[in-house]
Amino acid sequence: RQAVNEKGPLAGKKVIVTAGGTVERIDPVRYISNDSSGKMGFAIARAARAMGAEVTLIAARTDEAPPQDPEISLIRVESAQSMLEAVTSRWDDCDILIKAAAVADYRPMHSADSKIKKSGDTMTLELVKTTDILETLGKMKDSQFLVGFAAETGNAEFYAKDKLVRKNLDLIVANDVSSEGAGFGTDTNIVSIYDAGGLVLDLPLSSKDEVARRLLSLAAERISGVA
Ligand code: CTP
Ligand code: CA
Repeated sequence: RQAVNEKGPLAGKKVIVTAGGTVERIDPVRYISNDSSGKMGFAIARAARAMGAEVTLIAARTDEAPPQDPEISLIRVESAQSMLEAVTSRWDDCDILIKAAAVADYRPMHSADSKIKKSGDTMTLELVKTTDILETLGKMKDSQFLVGFAAETGNAEFYAKDKLVRKNLDLIVANDVSSEGAGFGTDTNIVSIYDAGGLVLDLPLSSKDEVARRLLSLAAERISGVA
């Protein structure tokens, strides 16, 4: 565990971090998910706590166990819908929300109550769009500072800027998950951070802990108006 600086740049601030990949049930033993490991979100939660914030970590499926820190409130969720409920119910009491989770864009239209038995040679699964959590929060935004992630496999800058505007975010962290040392499962990342005015910070290959600290320092400066 890192030393907590109770007088740190985020002292007294409430930070919510989402991490991991959502799980969308097909039946009680099968689901749709993605490759998110949870590492980036965990690094952000630890760094925010070390900087003095009151941290809530909302974690979906992750490869490793979340930080075992009694000073980080942990909420486990499964689906995009349950993550939406967990964040919106805490939204009024939040200063900074960082959405590092990989949320499923579609979920099975029907989730069976009992295990589906095999039958024909082909099977079709009908999917419906999930609610976009960040877009929903962007519309509800009051004084909260909202940060999104954009994991892309090409044209990262273009897509990230589009998401920043469309979801009414304060910052977006873009990473090209096809580059070596970046993205899912690794301990490092290569990111570019944008605001509505353009590029704010380019971080070459860095540990996820370092990316977390730099991102939170930016957020801290901006909410205190120092930027
Ligand atoms: N996000 C969300 N709710 C969703 C989908 C995405 O809150 N239903 C959030 C993610 O947590 C991330 C950001 O939106 O912080 C960008 O996610 P991404 O998958 O890159 O963008 P999408 O808008 O889903 O667009 P696409 O997958 O088509 O690139
Ligand atoms: Ca998506």
